[in-house]
Amino acid sequence: MSSTSFDATDSAATSIDDEDLAQLEAARRLVIQYLNEALATERALVTTLRAHIGMTPVSEYRTVLERHLGETQEQSNAIERRLGELGAGGSLLATGTGFAQTLVGQGLALSKGPVDLLRGKSGEEKLLKNAKDECATEALEIATYEAIEALARAVGDSKTEALARRHREEEERMLGDLRRLIPILTRDAVRALAAGHSTYDAGSTGAAEVLRRARAIATDVTRR
Ligand SMILES: [Fe+2]
Repeated sequence: MSSTSFDATDSAATSIDDEDLAQLEAARRLVIQYLNEALATERALVTTLRAHIGMTPVSEYRTVLERHLGETQEQSNAIERRLGELGAGGSLLATGTGFAQTLVGQGLALSKGPVDLLRGKSGEEKLLKNAKDECATEALEIATYEAIEALARAVGDSKTEALARRHREEEERMLGDLRRLIPILTRDAVRALAAGHSTYDAGSTGAAEVLRRARAIATDVTRR
C-alpha cells in the first residue's frame, strides 16, 4: 500500500537515530523540558482540583476528583524527585525555563479557580463545565507523558520511561472515569435547567464540609 501517512506502530519511523549524538543530546534536553512542563501542569492541577472538590457535593464524581488529587500530588513529587536525580532539579529553574513553565502553570490555576466559581448558571452546570475542563487537562497530560515515554525510551532512560508510563496510565483512567460521568452530570444540568432551580446540595460540598469541621474544632476548643 502506498501511503504517505504516518505509522506510529512502525518503530523505524518513530525512533530517533541513536548514533547521531546531536539527536541524542536534543532528546535528553526535551526529556528535562517536558518533565518540567508536566510538573507545572500537575502543580496547577492540584490547585484546580482542590477548588473543584470544594464546590462538588458528595457523589461518585467527587470521589473520583479526590482520588485524582492524591495521585496528582504524588505525580508532582515523583517528577520533582526524578528531575533531582537527573541533575536538573535546580538547573532549569536557574535558566528560567522551568521557572517560566511553573509560572504558566500557576497562572493557569490562579486564573481558573475564581472563574470556575463564577461561571455557569446552576451548580450542576458548573460541575459539568469543571468536568469538561478536567478532560482537556487530562488529554494534555496524556500527550505530554506519551512524548516523555518516547524520548526516555530513545535515550535509554528506563526510570523516566516507567514514571511517564505510570502517570499516563493514571491520567487515562481519570479521563475514562470523567467521560463516563459526563452524561450523568449533563442529565443533572438539564434537570436543573428544566426545573428552573438547582437541586445542587451546597451543604454537602467539600468547602461546606471543611467549614463544618473547622466549626466543630472551634466549638470543641471553646468548650475546653
Ligand atoms: Fe496528572
